[in-house]
Amino acid sequence: MIVVPGPASQSLGKKIAENLNAQIVPVNLKNFPDGEYCLRFEGDVTGEEVVVVQTTGPPQDTNIMQLLLMLDTAKELGAEKVTAVVPYLAFARQDKRFLSGEAVSAETLVKLIEACGVDQFITVNIHAKNTLKRFSVPTKNLSAITLLAEHFKGRGLDGAFSLSPDKGAIGLAEEADQVLGGGCGWLRKERDRYTGEVQVEEKSLNVQGRDVIVFDDIISTGGTIARAIKMLKSQGARRVYAACVHPLLIGEAKTKIIESGAEEIVGTDSITSSVRTVSLAPLIAEALAR
Ligand code: R5P
Repeated sequence: MIVVPGPASQSLGKKIAENLNAQIVPVNLKNFPDGEYCLRFEGDVTGEEVVVVQTTGPPQDTNIMQLLLMLDTAKELGAEKVTAVVPYLAFARQDKRFLSGEAVSAETLVKLIEACGVDQFITVNIHAKNTLKRFSVPTKNLSAITLLAEHFKGRGLDGAFSLSPDKGAIGLAEEADQVLGGGCGWLRKERDRYTGEVQVEEKSLNVQGRDVIVFDDIISTGGTIARAIKMLKSQGARRVYAACVHPLLIGEAKTKIIESGAEEIVGTDSITSSVRTVSLAPLIAEALAR
């Protein structure tokens, strides 16, 4: 097996290769003044099982284009099998036409990835699982929640309450509770489809004096998780932590979350950010080895 760490996932790709004891084929990127670039595999992939690792967080368009170029090139160069490891799949929140006339961006992205001849697709905590049904090749949606919860357990937060800021993500809190064992719950969130404004409904959570960890798949602007943390603090929660798989952390998200009362933000290296405390490498390597 050969691992190709893409430009957006250099460190994670290398760690995955280390975990698998696999050879790395680096990719060279030559940039042109007009913003275009040329990508070149610096090694032979003919007849090999190739794993391309490239996340698609911001800048999404560039990272997606590089992903497609790497997948297509690996096949063109004669790779026997190509697996796309895309820890964070961009546009996954637009998995249906919420307003008439909208692009179903997740579907378009799946079509493009498949058109590059990929044989297997692996991602982590995809926002809407139904997106994967659009692939005709085998897919895996790994979950990093157990890893995140184990991280907190290792830091003495065994017995903490696990909360999801959105009912649709209750599975995340339930999974974390399997490790932390302090019970779990959810909040109800509404997003205005026109303005994007988020409202989190007030709910009594029985968290007085307790440690709470709020688990979400994505932190983008930080608005959702900050509102949840404020509510927890106003209900007397002791220490509150923000945990997420994909820390996009746009703009002032980090400050917003800390100012809402969070002790800390813990994320994974799905996205290269300052909160990438937990590595996805063992999880992805294990799935590849399987
Ligand atoms: C959406 O439903 C996701 O699960 C996250 O809750 C959302 O992307 C977080 O966005 P923000 O940080 O901008 O509130």
